[in-house]
Amino acid sequence: MSALAAETGAINLSQGFPGFPVSEDFKRILADTIHQNVHQYAPMQGLLTLREQIRQVVDQEYQRKIGAGDILITAGATQAIFTVVQALVNEGDEVLIIDPAYDCYRPAIDLVKAKAVHVSLDNELRLDVGAIEDALTPKTRMIIVNNPHNPTGTVFPKSQMDSLVGVLEKYPDCFILADEVYEFINFLGEPVSFNYYPQLFDRLICISSFGKTLHATGWKVGYLTAPDKIMKEILKVHQFLVFSVSHFAQSAIAEYLKIFDIKELAGFYRAKQEILSNSLSKSSLKLMPCSGTYFQVVDISGVTDMGDVDYAIWLTKEKGVATIPLSVFYTSQPFSNYLRLCFAKDEETLLKAGDILCQI
Ligand SMILES: Cc1ncc(COP(=O)(O)O)c(C=O)c1O
Repeated sequence: MSALAAETGAINLSQGFPGFPVSEDFKRILADTIHQNVHQYAPMQGLLTLREQIRQVVDQEYQRKIGAGDILITAGATQAIFTVVQALVNEGDEVLIIDPAYDCYRPAIDLVKAKAVHVSLDNELRLDVGAIEDALTPKTRMIIVNNPHNPTGTVFPKSQMDSLVGVLEKYPDCFILADEVYEFINFLGEPVSFNYYPQLFDRLICISSFGKTLHATGWKVGYLTAPDKIMKEILKVHQFLVFSVSHFAQSAIAEYLKIFDIKELAGFYRAKQEILSNSLSKSSLKLMPCSGTYFQVVDISGVTDMGDVDYAIWLTKEKGVATIPLSVFYTSQPFSNYLRLCFAKDEETLLKAGDILCQI
């Protein structure tokens, strides 16, 4: 859809990346960093200064104590996910993923010849804990849970996380891969992270991305946390996949985290979501609840009989607004009436897109 947007000159609310620059402080720190000794390999597990900063973030945000040794700096969350699956999942294992699912899970599972078991959200795009429980078997080696959730823009609330954790406690051999790249863009304000559940810590791998937290997707720096015995296995893959991650990027991020206020992130994106939703208040598109990430889903069933893919193409070509159809995130498509709009854009872009969409 981004390619089509570029070709047609449409406003691009499709691909999920910020349409505004990183802060001047961040740029200045990067420029200063370049003059330091940051041009050779960084340590395999990541710069200690950066892992110390992350350790403090995890402590402050979740009151969870981990050591720097429990943290691995990765080339974005994508590498973290791939590395974890390669390290822990074997041929014939089952891996449970929740549809609509972020697109890098399935290829990682397929490559190790494991079986991906897909469980869909319910029709209102809520977590279906009953369906997850039905799909878990003694062969389930891993479950991947993304919360706050892309592409739906929902946050699975604490009550649902509590029941999910209750179910997972019955499967002590199942690893939990928590894709929490939008952990700080949570408008519910409830403690929903897996970091709050100590009963799972011995088999929990949490993944985050500075691409999302610092509005810098192009830096491709993320991290994962895992207990010692799991980290040992993960490092065996990491060593020969990337060995180590960009030294100057790690160094600049470690410095910037000293002044960056993570707590402001949710309010920052909430304001953008409100601009978009207010600008769509007179639209015939139905806004689905949005409680996190930088994605707003709209229901198109009131305005067209077309499927979401055809409608998204029509919208881009004929009206000049590019979006993403939600059905592409499903293996078997239960419905095709939702589009995803990315609101990590400047106000002018959001208002312009809102104006166009209101005329439909
Ligand atoms: C749910 C989810 N997981 C992982 C990623 C990948 O993050 P990164 O760019 O750090 O590889 C994204 C990026 O859009 C995402 O939305």
